[in-house]
Amino acid sequence: MKKIVILISGRGSNMQAIVQASQAQQWPAQIAAVISNKPDAAGLAYAASQGIPTKVVDSKSFASREDFDTALMHAIDNYQADLVVLAGFMRILTPDFVQHYENRIMNIHPSLLPSFVGLHTHQQALDAGVKFHGATVHFVTAELDHGPIIDQACVRIEHGDDENSLASKLLVKEHVLYPRAVRLFVEGKLVVQGNRVIVNGSEADHCAI
Ligand code: GAR
Repeated sequence: MKKIVILISGRGSNMQAIVQASQAQQWPAQIAAVISNKPDAAGLAYAASQGIPTKVVDSKSFASREDFDTALMHAIDNYQADLVVLAGFMRILTPDFVQHYENRIMNIHPSLLPSFVGLHTHQQALDAGVKFHGATVHFVTAELDHGPIIDQACVRIEHGDDENSLASKLLVKEHVLYPRAVRLFVEGKLVVQGNRVIVNGSEADHCAI
């Protein structure tokens, strides 16, 4: 039984999708805790309602990034996490932190990486005039929004789309993509080979539009 700790900063809809999939599909995994760096993160209430332990490590109460990451690491390790899942966790992590969880920390980023790293990815895609936008689940490395790509999902950008419509369309896809990627991990099906992730078994095409 793999132990998963999910980190959030806000709404937590991806966390919710992962919790629901783990319950409905009876994964060989336990959501050991949901941890937020913000005391008012809305997702904490949902986790608590599911009987999942919650914890706040308030990033505002630490003098440095290193101090915060050390406290966060202790909080995660307290739950003996096999996998750390960043689900709308809006913090840049130190290389030491990332190294500690090498190949067992994943993130969802709302773009088709390696395009559009950082913030405002929907607007970045609109500004670039691309016809497809998407989301990427990847293992986390020290470089922001890089790291071996596990899976991606995409949506077509339609005439008239704006930042909000694009975000809404994509979120629906994220809620399928992320639970599926986490499930592959807990089932031991992901193999990291350099910058590639090999999926041991069949791979559905999430880019169908
Ligand atoms: C999601 O769209 C996720 O892809 C994005 O934040 C949103 C969180 O929503 N993540 C990032 O931008 C990470 N750089 P949620 O809290 O409802 O899951």
